[in-house]
Amino acid sequence: MSHRIAAKITGVSGYVPPKVMTNADFEKIVETSDEWIRTRTGIRERHVVEKGMASSHLATEAAKALLAQTKTEAAEIDMIIVASVTPDMFFPATACLVQCRIGAKKAWGFDLSAACSGFSYALTVGAQFVGAGTHKKVMVIGSDTMTTILDYKDRATCVLFGDGAGAVLLESAGANEGILDFEHDVDGSGGEFLYMPGGGSLHPSSKETVEKRMHYVHQEGSQVFKYAVRRMAELSVRLIERNGFTKDDLALLVPHQANLRIIRATQERLGLDDSKVMVNIDKYGNTTAGTIPLGLRDAIQQGRLRKGDLVLIVTVGAGYTTGGVLLRWA
Ligand SMILES: CC(C)(COP(=O)(O)OP(=O)(O)OC[C@H]1O[C@@H](n2cnc3c(N)ncnc32)[C@H](O)[C@@H]1OP(=O)(O)O)[C@@H](O)C(=O)NCCC(=O)NCCS
Repeated sequence: MSHRIAAKITGVSGYVPPKVMTNADFEKIVETSDEWIRTRTGIRERHVVEKGMASSHLATEAAKALLAQTKTEAAEIDMIIVASVTPDMFFPATACLVQCRIGAKKAWGFDLSAACSGFSYALTVGAQFVGAGTHKKVMVIGSDTMTTILDYKDRATCVLFGDGAGAVLLESAGANEGILDFEHDVDGSGGEFLYMPGGGSLHPSSKETVEKRMHYVHQEGSQVFKYAVRRMAELSVRLIERNGFTKDDLALLVPHQANLRIIRATQERLGLDDSKVMVNIDKYGNTTAGTIPLGLRDAIQQGRLRKGDLVLIVTVGAGYTTGGVLLRWA
């Protein structure tokens, strides 16, 4: 059964910090090579925050760019949702920091934690308020600074991520435009394969948690890889087929950018040409909740998204969390 929501994206923005870290930079830190990183992941470089710059700063820049681009006053925003697993602090929510900095006086909001599926989850949640008619303008932001929780002694994880944020504005949609369908799911049995053990209520920060390097990303890459390949393809096929479309109807697949090989496997399963698949992992790495809005932004800048296009967003992340949103671009 399809789940239509009468909400559409009316603006997209993105922001990445200026500092760039190339694969060659990693060759100086860990036992790796540009060749290994490029061929195993598709990543060439990533943007990284400098000390003192946090997820809220990237989110605020993306939010300001969105307001300027859509000619929206901050006071018109009804709600702000920030998807992030790297909030500035446990609390207050990053959404509160953004709300204050942009002066969105009447907006309420909150953070949403679903790792790399965070943006697709937040998009769906925000859209529900627009579709219900209770909120006119909802800002959905994905912002992560994964480099602040990476172990730069673990070559299998530290090369994969970058920092970045993106934002969209959601407003009400007419018939046959906006969100045509969505599906999200969780498989909590995958929680042990990608997580950050330290600093939460189970293992509060202590000298011991720091010494055991528990405040960093821990991952079993091949487990996550296999799950992502399977689920991204399954969900994509289901969303296309149950809405009566074929691969030929799809104008653009905007997949989560975790690994180029995961993206290509999904593309192959769907039988899509390269022209129909958004790829920018080479420039940004995996920016977690930032990948989808940055993908949409780059697609627009490259002239690859036009009114009336059928667009499929698909994500997999820690949890495991999986998300898919099918849209008619408006
Ligand atoms: C992490 C990932 C790139 C590793 O690729 P892989 O093909 O699975 O490689 P493996 O883990 O099997 O490791 C192969 C070898 O490369 C080595 N290796 C790992 N990272 C390396 C690096 N940066 N440079 C050089 N060698 C590296 C491993 O140590 C291993 O060596 P060994 O065979 O001597 O033990 C891949 O599993 C992946 O992308 N997984 C998904 C991660 C992800 O997307 N997470 C976010 C989810 S949203």
